[in-house]
Amino acid sequence: MQLSKNKISRFQEKILSWYVDHKRVLPWRDSFDPYWVLVSEVMSQQTQVERVVPKFHRFLDILPRMQDLAVVDKSTLLWLRSGLWFNSRALRLQQAAAIIVWEYNSIVPADRAKLLRLPGIWPYTSASICAFAYNMPEPVVDTNIRRVLIHELWLDQSLKPADLEDIARACIPEGRSNDRHNALMDYGSAVATAAATGIRPTSKQSTFRWSDREVRWWILKQLVAGVQLTPELIALQFPNKVVQSILVDMQKDGLITTSKSKITIAD
Ligand code: ADE
Repeated sequence: MQLSKNKISRFQEKILSWYVDHKRVLPWRDSFDPYWVLVSEVMSQQTQVERVVPKFHRFLDILPRMQDLAVVDKSTLLWLRSGLWFNSRALRLQQAAAIIVWEYNSIVPADRAKLLRLPGIWPYTSASICAFAYNMPEPVVDTNIRRVLIHELWLDQSLKPADLEDIARACIPEGRSNDRHNALMDYGSAVATAAATGIRPTSKQSTFRWSDREVRWWILKQLVAGVQLTPELIALQFPNKVVQSILVDMQKDGLITTSKSKITIAD
């Protein structure tokens, strides 16, 4: 689906000028510190930001650097997460921090494919780290932003996530990915709310909305981007899918080849 340049620029101007007067003050905004962004994004998954803010301060007081998170003992880590996230989410965040420290010299990769290989980093989180920490033009589409796009651009609610992502990408103003995504999130939670727009979320847990076809699309997209996928990695991203049968079907259709759990695009 193509949107006219005019429509896109009117939409961009509307959201960004609204944001000038209504920007929420949040501790991780304006910092661009990739560690802050990583922690805040993982903490904010399916949790209201108002609840995240005090826990975010406490977390950073005790673990101010990626290296601190990578080595902290489990009991402190689980105490820090108390009342906010699932144990598994905190543990995966620590595993991701350890990989960033040891493999990437403590620098959060500015690369979606590399980010996706980290434990607990989902397509959404990988895009949001690129956009918020590195101002890269990666489309971030969470429940709020999806609602804003559908409402403001008069899109069909049944639009596939992949198509919505293409539209979201086309709407990122040059050099303003960070601002613009913050603006969209605030506009979605203050103005284009579910009650005001009547737009339903696709589901509570984003993974549940993925059809087999979309998982196939996701797998091919990663392979084209050069990500080395394994069935285990795919299962981590889509825990409620029977990954093996999707891979078998893709192989039957001549899309991929697999050998010793290495997946490649078919010649
Ligand atoms: N939820 C996740 N990231 C956020 C951000 N940067 N601003 C507001 N809400 C968020």
